[in-house]
Amino acid sequence: MFRMRRLRVNETMRRLVRETKVSVDDLVCPIFVKEGNDIKEPVDSMPGIYQWSIDRIDEELDVISKLNIPAILLFGIPKKKDELGSEAYNDEGIVQKAIRHIKEKNKDLLVIADVCLCEYTSHGHCGVVHDHDVDNDETLELLGKMAVSVAKAGADIIAPSDMMDGRVEFIRKALDDNGFVNRSIMAYSAKFASAYYGPFRDAADSAPSFGDRKTYQMDYCNGKEAIRECFSDIDEGADIIMVKPGLAYLDVLKSISEQTEYPLAVYNVSGEYSMVKAAARNGWIDEKRIVMENMIAMKRAGAKIIITYHALDVAKWLNESN
Ligand code: PBG
Ligand code: ZN
Repeated sequence: MFRMRRLRVNETMRRLVRETKVSVDDLVCPIFVKEGNDIKEPVDSMPGIYQWSIDRIDEELDVISKLNIPAILLFGIPKKKDELGSEAYNDEGIVQKAIRHIKEKNKDLLVIADVCLCEYTSHGHCGVVHDHDVDNDETLELLGKMAVSVAKAGADIIAPSDMMDGRVEFIRKALDDNGFVNRSIMAYSAKFASAYYGPFRDAADSAPSFGDRKTYQMDYCNGKEAIRECFSDIDEGADIIMVKPGLAYLDVLKSISEQTEYPLAVYNVSGEYSMVKAAARNGWIDEKRIVMENMIAMKRAGAKIIITYHALDVAKWLNESN
């Protein structure tokens, strides 16, 4: 008789046959930087996550560097917002200043800059609004400017999260024309219009003031379309592609991972984080075990890179078990 249990007899045996691992090398830690001084402002809907001013951000970066986490993903919260999100492509903007500050002391840390306008526009949409909709091609110009501006500040990876058509090609060309041929693009390729972004919009102060993002982010009913989004970003020059959110989209992750050799990232988004935190705080689940199971699920489905608000905890737990 086949006895599957033979390979489960003890932890050493299980370790030997284990198929999937999470490593600190896979982790990206999102960070929110805010204009101002002496700020470490907790995000109410995301326990353990803060908005940081640049003068205090070293507290977080020291932990990240001790844990040897390879990359951070930066989001900026500007002092002023306007119709065209002009702080997004101001060389003296919050994200640009933060990147310069971070790169000065953390040479080996990869800084990924999220490129999108929604944190910077007065209406909270991801681009230029006309007649209550976002104009694709006008938005491309501004995204190109933001990409070049963050590259100039020192960003290693440019991560467009806006979901405009043609933005990867446009940004690639803008980067190349400005001499940044070796800065890579991590495209939010299959980004779904999701209620799981709720807490992020508190953290980044980026909720749209009217309507929703359904004319540019994907309909979550569509798995095949997600493949087309990934391949179009690859054709346009993306170096890394992404599926977002993570846990409700493991099928999408799996099918993309089977169809391409490109490095695949997954974004374990704010709502996924907050749900785990809330249940753990109530004593309803074991936080560490749930989080590690979630991490493995995303890797098993085919992700190489995991962007997660649990990054610091996961890195600590991995260290402890070594
Ligand atoms: C901005 C952006 C969002 C997230 C990452 N970049 C929000 C949105 O599109 O509404 C979501 C991240 C999260 O929920 O953790 N375009
Ligand atoms: Zn946006």
